[in-house]
Amino acid sequence: MSTNIVWHEATVTKEDRRRRNGHHSGILWFTGLSGSGKSTIANAVSKKLFQLGIQNYVLDGDNIRHGLNKDLGFSAEDRTENIRRIGEVAKLFVDSGQFVLTAFISPFAQDRQLVRSLVEEEEFIEIYVKCPLEECEKRDPKGLYRKARNGEIRDFTGIDSPYEAPISPELIIETDRYSIEECADQVLAYLRQKHFIKGDGSYGV
Ligand SMILES: Nc1ncnc2c1ncn2[C@@H]1O[C@H](COP(=O)(O)OP(=O)(O)OP(=O)(O)O)[C@@H](O)[C@H]1O
Ligand SMILES: [Mg+2]
Repeated sequence: MSTNIVWHEATVTKEDRRRRNGHHSGILWFTGLSGSGKSTIANAVSKKLFQLGIQNYVLDGDNIRHGLNKDLGFSAEDRTENIRRIGEVAKLFVDSGQFVLTAFISPFAQDRQLVRSLVEEEEFIEIYVKCPLEECEKRDPKGLYRKARNGEIRDFTGIDSPYEAPISPELIIETDRYSIEECADQVLAYLRQKHFIKGDGSYGV
């Protein structure tokens, strides 16, 4: 652990930034099986928020693993460290007054809980992207399930690595029942209902 490191308080605060932006900031944490639609929905929501003038950014699994977390694999230990780092990065986005949309399988409840504990209560919105394994496997957008079934990939979530579904997420999105557009609108509706954004995209909290 580092010593002699002192936290420097920011001159421009999170509240200042939110007031300027005219909306709340927080983490929209999408969790679900591979192929459930996390990236698809996160990007659809991001576009809608952008069009409303709401500051936001998507952090996506594969992209982060190309850079920040390229030293990490898929063992339980590495998955935990992967999520911990993403949580810390996401927290910086919240502090910067933006919504950050994260699209990671994040299969372990304990890891998601750790991220939740990093920020304030109204800042962590867990979105369970729910879709039956059979449907995800049928979609197989990256051909990963086929590889996992063939034994070419190990520790694959849903096949030979567990997925712990959220017990009380803020939101459940069922991507086998609703269209991409409808799923994205459900997220927007939640943000409006909580007054994190206003109906017309102007002032929120
Ligand atoms: N209602 C829906 N919502 C989201 N995706 C859908 C829906 N209906 C069909 N799809 C399709 O399902 C696939 C979901 O793939 P996507 O890459 O978004 O999953 P993911 O959860 O990000 O997976 P991974 O963890 O591997 O990155 C896409 O091909 C998308 O077009
Ligand atoms: Mg994805």
